[in-house]
Amino acid sequence: KPVVLSGCQPSGQLTIGNYMGALRQWIGMQDSHDCHFMVVDLHAITVRQDPQALREATLDGIALYIACGLDPNKSKLFLQSHVPAHAQLAWVLNCFTQMGELNRMTQFKDKSQRNESNVNVGLFTYPVLMAADILAYGANQVPVGDDQKQHLELSRDIATRFNNIYGDTLVVPEPFIPPHGARIMSLQDPTKKMSKSDDNPGSYIGLLEEPKKIVKKIKRAVTDSDEQARIYFDPQEKAGVSNLLTLLSGATGRSIEELVPEYEGKMYGHLKGDVADAVVAFLEPMQTRYQALRSDRAALDEILQSGAAQAKERAEATLKQVYDAVGFIPPL
Ligand code: AQP
Repeated sequence: KPVVLSGCQPSGQLTIGNYMGALRQWIGMQDSHDCHFMVVDLHAITVRQDPQALREATLDGIALYIACGLDPNKSKLFLQSHVPAHAQLAWVLNCFTQMGELNRMTQFKDKSQRNESNVNVGLFTYPVLMAADILAYGANQVPVGDDQKQHLELSRDIATRFNNIYGDTLVVPEPFIPPHGARIMSLQDPTKKMSKSDDNPGSYIGLLEEPKKIVKKIKRAVTDSDEQARIYFDPQEKAGVSNLLTLLSGATGRSIEELVPEYEGKMYGHLKGDVADAVVAFLEPMQTRYQALRSDRAALDEILQSGAAQAKERAEATLKQVYDAVGFIPPL
């Protein structure tokens, strides 16, 4: 089976964007792939996190993975910090990555501009840690959204460079753009993607949010000033409306082509009402499952322990090969 690896940052509450753009695709890969899904807590501290909030968001993340349909009996579910080989391999790979390559990463440029008071070295080398995550498992398929393609390309370059120097050691990963992967945009600025750490909570829908809040946020979503208020799908010209249609399609399982004609002659308010109802109905059963999972810490711990033990086995084997290749003496 192809090896797959992916993860979400516990840098806030997972959003419906994380679900529709990532989790939903992961769920569909569990039978056909050897899946590793982590909560990437090491990555999250590239932005300052409150320790208690980070703990909560990390446990919430794992409980949400399962509540959404990831099955710990099929996939390895774990926390990145529970497998030290990620950080260890990242160090080695740092020494095979050029400053110039990292300078070109657009996510670094965006994030450092947004938070000028904390442009730390971790934020800069984030893509190297991501390369370590992927390469540690020999993941040959990495489901990525558009925004992560550049990082994956770098992982490929680092792996190829390492292999050219030391012989075949690392598996060069292939990007895998999952079918039907939706990109969900900010409700307040539909030209930007929805982000869980956006300063404006009105811009995102958290998977755990109360129905009342969700309804309010969707009703306040930015659309456009088209006087005829036409409803059709065109992410360039009608970014806000298109985002609402994507959400409606994602929550109902109906295609956008099927939905659009139903809104002929209707108002934006009508569409928003339907999106709000659909999103609330869609999230409700998942929220109920989450409550049950989150209230049983011992069961969650057991899942994390077992996931990390399985993940470690593979990641440590890769690390050993890499250490050996560069010339480290194995410990006795
Ligand atoms: N808006 C989105 N639409 C579709 N997919 C999305 N993803 C994130 N936002 C959207 C996908 O979710 C996976 C995990 O992302 P992440 O948590 O590692 O980090 P991110 O991409 O930086 O997500 P956020 O929510 O924007 O986090 P912050 O605000 O902390 O930076 C990835 O596969 C991503 O493509």
